[in-house]
Amino acid sequence: MKRFAGIIVAFLGALAISTAQAKPIEIKFSHVVAENTPKGQMALKFKELVDQRLDGKVVVKVYPNSQLFTDGKVLQAMQLGDVEMAAPSLSKFQKYTKKLQIFDLPFLFEDMEAVETFQNSPAGKELLKSLERKMLVGLGYLHNGMKQLSANQPIRTPADIAGKKYRIMTSDVLQAQFEAVHAIPLKKPFSEVFTLLQTRAIDGQENTWSNIYSKKFFEVQDYVTETNHGLLDYLVVSSAEFWYGLPQDIRNELQAALDEAIAYGNQIAAQKAKEDRQKIIDSGKSQVVEITDEERQQWVNAMRPVWKRFEKEVGADLIDAAIKSNK
Ligand code: SIN
Repeated sequence: MKRFAGIIVAFLGALAISTAQAKPIEIKFSHVVAENTPKGQMALKFKELVDQRLDGKVVVKVYPNSQLFTDGKVLQAMQLGDVEMAAPSLSKFQKYTKKLQIFDLPFLFEDMEAVETFQNSPAGKELLKSLERKMLVGLGYLHNGMKQLSANQPIRTPADIAGKKYRIMTSDVLQAQFEAVHAIPLKKPFSEVFTLLQTRAIDGQENTWSNIYSKKFFEVQDYVTETNHGLLDYLVVSSAEFWYGLPQDIRNELQAALDEAIAYGNQIAAQKAKEDRQKIIDSGKSQVVEITDEERQQWVNAMRPVWKRFEKEVGADLIDAAIKSNK
């Protein structure tokens, strides 16, 4: 009888294991932007590819618009195992590594081609590993684009934003950048920006054409000045525990699907930088201000000293490598 009970227990155990194995692996992908953005489209493409190639083994659930976590909470939630993937802006990692601050240095990259060159260089690839000590894995960069300044009045030179309140992401470099032009930077989550602008609690913000358009900031800001003064790109991340806990073959398939989704998202980013700029102009709700070379030089002169301040944390060699990416 005792032997029979033992066989039953072993059988039930094996059944439980095989049932557990058959259960699909769930990936919750949390992000803060709208679906019609480079990141929103990349996440959906990743889901589509995983559905096609790993059907039944892995299920991806995408949560846009800060539905699951705001940008301030998502990385902590990932470390706790509450979310498996996210793609925060590179400006939101400073609690986890100082190295990624390089991407916030104003006027460092001349264009997206330079950004692409740097991210694909040995130095750029090495940066993907900069979160390892925090048990996070950088899986790939994703573009959004260059940032512009929106405001309630036409901004042409640094003197125009002195004393004005500007929302920034949680980055000390961005704080220093706005302080360099005597504005008042306020670190706030992306999910609060529209209301802050609408209620005039702040005077302006910096963002890409796609975020200004998709989150309707242009409806509550009368002007957008085309400064291209800084970069807003992303790092797709997972927790080391989750990622390295996956069977090798599944991890390889997921990485391949992600690489393809990122390439797709990058195409959308290039497209949206043009299209969404035009849509804002066509809306007639916000005027796009184009500055002269001489005016742009005033911004460069005022903001460039920020590099020196962060040189020690970021590394002079890394800054040099980034400069060399500009042709
Ligand atoms: C994002 O594009 O993920 C948000 C950017 C921001 O916080 O301004």
